[in-house]
Amino acid sequence: MPDFILAIDQGTTGSTVALVDSQGQLCASVNIEFPQVFPKPGWVEHDPEAIWSSVEKALSRLLRKKLCKPSDIVAVGITNQRETSVLWDRRSGDTLHNAIVWQCRRTADFCDVLRQAGHEDTVKKRSGLVLDPYFSASKFRWLLREVPAAKRALKTGALAAGTIDSFLLWRLTGGEEHATDVSNAARTSLMNLKTLKWDEELCRLFEVPASILPEIRPSSGIFGHTRGVRGLPDGIPITGIAGDQQAALFGQACFTAGDAKCTFGTGSFIVMNTGGERLASKSGLLTTVAWQLDNKDPVYALEGGAFVCGAAVQWLRDGLGLIKRASDVESLASSVADHGGVEFVPALTGLGAPHWAADARGLITGLSRGSTGGHIARATLDAMALQNVDILTCMEADLGKRMRPLRVDGGAAANDLLMQSQADYLGRKLVRPRITETTVAGASYLAGLGVGLWRNSAEIKRIWQPEREFAVRVTAAGRRKRMESWQAAVRQTLQR
Ligand code: G3P
Repeated sequence: MPDFILAIDQGTTGSTVALVDSQGQLCASVNIEFPQVFPKPGWVEHDPEAIWSSVEKALSRLLRKKLCKPSDIVAVGITNQRETSVLWDRRSGDTLHNAIVWQCRRTADFCDVLRQAGHEDTVKKRSGLVLDPYFSASKFRWLLREVPAAKRALKTGALAAGTIDSFLLWRLTGGEEHATDVSNAARTSLMNLKTLKWDEELCRLFEVPASILPEIRPSSGIFGHTRGVRGLPDGIPITGIAGDQQAALFGQACFTAGDAKCTFGTGSFIVMNTGGERLASKSGLLTTVAWQLDNKDPVYALEGGAFVCGAAVQWLRDGLGLIKRASDVESLASSVADHGGVEFVPALTGLGAPHWAADARGLITGLSRGSTGGHIARATLDAMALQNVDILTCMEADLGKRMRPLRVDGGAAANDLLMQSQADYLGRKLVRPRITETTVAGASYLAGLGVGLWRNSAEIKRIWQPEREFAVRVTAAGRRKRMESWQAAVRQTLQR
C-alpha cells in the first residue's frame, strides 16, 4: 500500500499543503495566500481564521487532485512562520485577536524598558535570543494587557496561547492537543535553552503565565491525531513539527555540526547546525534549537536572519508598481550591468541580525539622473545577497573559521542572477539542491521519522541531491568595493 505524508507549511504570506511519498519526493502542493494586516506603521497582523481557512482550502484543493486516497496518508507534519503569536479560548475554540506577526514592531518600547533595566543578559543567557520585539514573549504580553477577551479567559482558566504550529495542532486535533515543539518554543524568549522547559524567570519578566503556554515536545514523535478536519479521516497521527527555518535545515540534510543553509523567503535566514553545542554569539546572532528527535539530545543551531528578503521584491511590485509579477525582477535587474551606485537597504520592518535596530526604516540612496527601475531592481537583489554577507561574516567570527559551502533554498533561490551575486559577494561556493521546497521536505521528513517511515537521518540524507553549484566569479578587490558601498548605506540607515 502506498504511504504518503501530508506536510503543512504555514508561511508569512501563504499556506502550502503538500503530499510527499515514501521516497521523500514531493508529489504535489497547493499554496493559498491570505491578507496581511497593517493597522499602523510598523505593525503587522494576521487573522488566525484566515490562516486556518487558507490551510483548509489548500488541503481540499490538494485532495481534489486525487493523487492518493486520504486513507493513504500515514502522518501529518507541520512547519510554520515562527514567533507569530496567537491567543484562543480553549473552551469555545475562538481566537481572541489577530495574531501578532514576527515582523511587528509594536513592542519595541517594552523591549527598551527591559534593556534599560539591565535584563538583556538574562534573556540572552536563558533563551539564547537578543531582546527584540521579533520574538513572541513581548507579543503575548501585549495581547494579555490590551485584549479584554484575553483578560476574561485568563481569569476563567480558558486562555490558550501559542505560536502558529500549536494553533494549527489545536485545530487539527479538534481541540485535543495544546503542544508545540522545541524549535518553535525556542523562538518565544520564554524557553530555557538548556532545560527545554518554560523558564520561570523569563515568564515573570515578560509577564506571561506558563499555564497558558503549550506543552513543549520533541520535533518528531506523536503530537496527536486528526479529528474533525474537512477531507481527512480522523486518527491520522501528527508526528512532526518544526519552525520553518529549522525544518529547512532538516530538509537540506544539514545533519552534521558545521552544515549550514540559507533560505530566501519573506525574510532570509542563515542557520548553521552546531550539534550539541549552544554556541553563544559575540556578534549579534541567535543561539537556538534546531530540532530534537524523539527523546534524543537536542541539536542546537546558530542563526542570523534578515527580516526582509522576498518581501522587498513584493514591495517593488505592490508598493512601487515597478514590476507586475515577483519573477519579473530578474529580467528588470538584468537590464543593467550593475547597481549603478544605487543602494537599497530594505529595513521595511526594522533591521534584524546583526544590527537589531527595531526602529530603522528602509533607505534608497545613490540615485542620479541616469538611475532607472533596472538599477533599483538590481540594488534590491544585491541587498538580498549583501545582508547575508554581513550575517555570514558574523557567523564565521563566532565560529573562528571558514564555513562549509552554503546550501540555498526558498522561492528566490530559483533566481540565478541572485544566486550568482550571492556566491560572488560571499566569496563562497553555493549549492542549490534539487528539492528547493526544503521547508515542506523537512516537515515531512520529521513526520516520516516520527511514524517510522524512515528509520534515521542517514536514510533521509540519501534523498538530498544537489542540482547546481554557483562558484565565485569576482575578485576579492571587487567584492571589497561592493561591500564598502553597501555598508556605508547601512550605516546611514542606522544613523537616522
Ligand atoms: O522567523 C520568521 C520566519 O520563520 C518566517 O519565515 O518563510 O515566512 O520568511 P518565512
